[in-house]
Amino acid sequence: HHDHPYLRLLEKMPCVPTGRTLKTGRQTMLPHTPLTSTPPENAMIDNQRLPQHIAIIMDGNGRWAQARGMVRSKGHQAGVEAVDKITSECSRLGIRFLTLYTFSTENWNRPPEEVNAIMQLLITSLVEETFMKNNVRMRVIGDRERLAPEVRKCIEDCEKHTSENTGLTLVIALSYSSRWEITDAMKHIAQKVKDGTLEPDDINEQTIAENLESHFMPDPELLIRTGGEQRISNYLLWQCAYSELYFTDIFWPDFDEKALYNAIEDYQHRERRFGKTSAQVKADTGLQQTV
Ligand code: FPP
Repeated sequence: HHDHPYLRLLEKMPCVPTGRTLKTGRQTMLPHTPLTSTPPENAMIDNQRLPQHIAIIMDGNGRWAQARGMVRSKGHQAGVEAVDKITSECSRLGIRFLTLYTFSTENWNRPPEEVNAIMQLLITSLVEETFMKNNVRMRVIGDRERLAPEVRKCIEDCEKHTSENTGLTLVIALSYSSRWEITDAMKHIAQKVKDGTLEPDDINEQTIAENLESHFMPDPELLIRTGGEQRISNYLLWQCAYSELYFTDIFWPDFDEKALYNAIEDYQHRERRFGKTSAQVKADTGLQQTV
């Protein structure tokens, strides 16, 4: 299956997002015009080798609040400020996609007061003007059917109104889990087989990627988890197959621009091999530089 022409194409052009729509021949390349692409003077990051997609597991809001003798929802409130800060900075750097794990399928099991507080916070934080001002396109991935109608309406309006923006795409994973997403994709694929529009033998990795709800985004090169745990917690399991993982003890409300540069700097020191040997990778990079 690695010989599939799409996969070869994608390997050569990692910035082309995969899409459900590829099959029908519709244009899937999202336009992108970063604001600027200048890292601050003191940051040791190379703006030529920035990841195009950063995914974040924002953990530690509750512990941040508890450490200050506050209720957990205060931690989520402070978390929104970190979301603002990191979204602006990614946008400024010219990162194309930022995917934030905002509420997992498992989070529905939290006390109803906390669930409500997070949902309310979400509604008040998704301020369209801010997205418009910053040219940010907002998308949600997750099981919308479980969301309250007013939350659903809010995100759908926001998605619609920001859909033409060409800066950063901010992807909010809400009522999301990777196993849910993959299961949902399997249902779509099974239906196509049942309808006779798809042969089981024709199913390949691209078919699965195209049927994921997150089909519009390229795989993240960098996955950051704050809050000290070292787990993936059912987040982007398919998409993170080759992602570099970065864990920090910093609680999400304290994660700032400097912490983001540290993560990017760490990522830039790693060698991404995709199963090849180090010598092959070095030869490939050498080749690219001479072409
Ligand atoms: C994890 O911390 C965080 C969450 C479950 C919620 C994250 C939500 C926000 C930051 C608000 C969303 C707003 C926007 C605009 C995206 P935790 O509560 O699990 O912390 P703990 O591990 O310390 O208990």
